[in-house]
Amino acid sequence: MAGQLAARTRALVSRLPLVRSRDALPVDVLPALRLGGKLTLPGDKSISHRALMLALLAEGETRITGAGDGEDVRSTAGIVTALGADVLRTRRPDRNVDYVVVSRGARRVRFAGDLWCGNSGTTMRLVAGILAGLDVNANLDGDASLERRPMSRVVEPLRAMGADIEAGQPDGTGGLAVTGPRPLRAIDWTTPVASAQVKSSILLAALAAQGTTVVRQPVPTRDHTERMLRARGVPVRSRVEADGSSTVELDGPATVRAVDQVVPGDPSAAAFWLVAGSIHPDAELRIRGVGVNPTRRAAIDLLRRMGASIEEDGVGAEGDGDGVGEPIADLVVRSAALEGIEVSPAETAAAIDEIPVLCLAATQARGRSVIRGAGELRHKESDRIAGIVDGLGRLGARITADGDDLVVDGPVRLCGGTVDSLGDHRLAMTFAVAGLVATDRTTIQDADSVGISYPGFFADLERIRS
Ligand code: S3P
Repeated sequence: MAGQLAARTRALVSRLPLVRSRDALPVDVLPALRLGGKLTLPGDKSISHRALMLALLAEGETRITGAGDGEDVRSTAGIVTALGADVLRTRRPDRNVDYVVVSRGARRVRFAGDLWCGNSGTTMRLVAGILAGLDVNANLDGDASLERRPMSRVVEPLRAMGADIEAGQPDGTGGLAVTGPRPLRAIDWTTPVASAQVKSSILLAALAAQGTTVVRQPVPTRDHTERMLRARGVPVRSRVEADGSSTVELDGPATVRAVDQVVPGDPSAAAFWLVAGSIHPDAELRIRGVGVNPTRRAAIDLLRRMGASIEEDGVGAEGDGDGVGEPIADLVVRSAALEGIEVSPAETAAAIDEIPVLCLAATQARGRSVIRGAGELRHKESDRIAGIVDGLGRLGARITADGDDLVVDGPVRLCGGTVDSLGDHRLAMTFAVAGLVATDRTTIQDADSVGISYPGFFADLERIRS
């Protein structure tokens, strides 16, 4: 199979540019003969957002090193500036950015007007929590995708805390309006959805609330907010209960200290290369400085369970002394024969952003993979269940949605074709990786959406292929 792929690939490479990208035009990806090289990823998007927001809340100067420079993080930086902080942004040679944020602290924020969240659900939901206790009269707006996303999940708890907040539309979509200051009170809140955004929004509001706020979730979700608040002097406690659910408590009101942050490489971005390296028959990729926080590393562990060869090198210290506060590692991935697996709802929640690319891995694995409890994917930047079933299906995959479960049968030869990314960065990157192992050209519509989280994605793809 590898030989056939190589011959076919050579013929195509001689006729076409490897990758063609012009603004919103489609991007063509051709099959690769081999994948090799070293990659430095965008700084973790979740940590970059939070570092900027916490820098606004803290009085003084915060240095953020190696933040991601995708459009989502820039939306947050724009809001932090609009809310009164001085934000200096410097480009780094690795396409990431360093920020210096100087703020007068949460209590001095005064704002009336519109705040643009772009495509970023994290920005809208977390900033809503911050604003709930501040002296503002703000509309949080976003692009068409964000305006379709559900906001009731933060409106309800923030209202229970005493916030004056409403969604633009009666069905809880259409952005948010927040008016303050309002005296906030602590709540004990159980969220039916496992969402780090909801948990974080409540915790950020709890900074201004009187008493101990408790957030309970069915399973643990990414814990960057808790780690970063703790590192900034805020009393936050978290535990996993005997039934596997998660409880986080924060004693308010609390002051956030200005603490510098080094941002690790984004594990969700790493997942694209981990899958590329695993499913391509001739691949070895080294990915430098990736965050391997236990609440973010599910994709690595699921791929290993499928039989992937992923080495973790030089795991960094978890302490806060290094300014990261998160474990980091270099990852080395090599071609491997994969087997289908069952993914439980808790594992799906832990790998929520990586499920689309894990579905691609499953198309190349022997046997059936079932990804259970993936309903939350319908509420992301696009309906990712519909998008992945349609897109991978068009490329030749055998994939179906069965209620909230995704069922993939493999292995199949992906054949290339034209696919719609629905303007969703994670679908665009998944289809691009599929294009590296397909037998023919893959054309991805609306592929410039990769800039939401990974502006250098297509440049990296070109660099590691031959
Ligand atoms: C994020 C949490 C997740 C994830 C998103 C980033 C965060 O969303 O999908 O890309 O930074 O907290 P949910 O918490 O809504 O699942």
